[in-house]
Amino acid sequence: MKTKLVILGAQWGDEGKGKVVDLLSANFDAVVRYQGGSNAGHTVVVNGEKFILHLLPTGILHPHTIGVVAQGMVVDLELLVEEVQALEDKGLRVWDRFFISDRAHLVMPYHKLLDSLFEKKGKIGTTLRGIGPSYMFKFGRKGIRVCDLENPDNAYRLMKENLEFVKDLCEKVYYQRQDLSLEQMFEKTMENYRKIKERVTDTTKWLLEFKGRVLFEGAQGTMLDIDMGTYPYVTSSNASALGLSNGTGLPPKYFSTAEFWAVSKAYTTRVGEGPFPTELTDGVGEMLRNRGGEYGATTGRPRRCGWLDLVALKHAVRVNGLDGLILTKLDVLDSFEEIKVCVAYERNGKLTQDLPANLELVGGIKPVYKSFSGWLKDTRGAKSISQLPPQAIEYLEFIQEYIGIPIVMLSTGPERDEYFWMVDEKA
Ligand code: IMP
Repeated sequence: MKTKLVILGAQWGDEGKGKVVDLLSANFDAVVRYQGGSNAGHTVVVNGEKFILHLLPTGILHPHTIGVVAQGMVVDLELLVEEVQALEDKGLRVWDRFFISDRAHLVMPYHKLLDSLFEKKGKIGTTLRGIGPSYMFKFGRKGIRVCDLENPDNAYRLMKENLEFVKDLCEKVYYQRQDLSLEQMFEKTMENYRKIKERVTDTTKWLLEFKGRVLFEGAQGTMLDIDMGTYPYVTSSNASALGLSNGTGLPPKYFSTAEFWAVSKAYTTRVGEGPFPTELTDGVGEMLRNRGGEYGATTGRPRRCGWLDLVALKHAVRVNGLDGLILTKLDVLDSFEEIKVCVAYERNGKLTQDLPANLELVGGIKPVYKSFSGWLKDTRGAKSISQLPPQAIEYLEFIQEYIGIPIVMLSTGPERDEYFWMVDEKA
């Protein structure tokens, strides 16, 4: 039995973490989100009903779990209150089952405004949820934290200072008027704060004292990590395992007894701008998008699609120190006659299996593929490896061999029970 389990995204996000965390958290007592914010959209289908969670940990869908919104997250209080209420309206008791860190930073309306202004110059293709600007304020020591709302005078002063700064930035740099009302923003923020006040706590202390089993739910993916991803086309937090300690306030040693697993699709997708070596802009990419339903859970944008990039996946194995991989959406490949995986990058006639730090290099590389014949059979809902066609088994075996860690679980469809374990030792 694992007492601490970390689930991360191995690619550019949207790997199917929502479903995986949901089914694994049945065996855990607390589930923790620790980086990012409402840019995440974790989708879970329970009894045909679709839930998309943006801020609360997905594991909260199990009535016995406690959800923790830890200090490394940037939280849009308005959305948090809406999300909790929406789950309550569906009959789930949530108000007394989650904690939010007093040290978490807020996403304010002016962060969303700046997100869209920044996007006009130098497009990253963000989710426009104010994530980057909120982290900018945090690291620029202008952020407002949940604990700052305890004293309304202090909160008002901080909001006033920030709004003046944003107003100057908008008008003097972007020649854009901004008419956000300080009074309205303050009233609304305090109204939302009063609703969640009882749930605010020192989540680091709480986690250190907690005796139950804890699952840490990463958002986005390793390739979107601010340090180890395809910078600057990344999100503004450490979406890899690097974010665990600063995102929770827990000492690195705490995680020495944790198991690290990451989720990857059987192919690759990416939303937003930035390099994507195996992207397919032809009919094959279109087929992946249609068969996989590849449209963003947060923004509805069509996702860019391509073959599985094993060079990028191996990068994720190294950076995260992964113990196992969870593979999703194998069934999307069911109707392809030929399936390819990228096994190296070629640049100026030279081959490499490393991801270059310099994006100009990533942009100039050509993927080198290994080709597999497709299985042309339905794998949806398979319950054991013996139910998979031999070509699919060959595909999975090649992936494991290349990345050097086992595929521990295969997800075989969107429903909670559509998966099977590939190893004996389970979560
Ligand atoms: P931001 O996180 O909204 O600043 O967006 C930065 C980049 O990360 C953009 O390319 C987004 O599309 C991408 N991104 C952010 N969150 C997610 C996610 O949950 N899944 C997939 N991509 C994401």
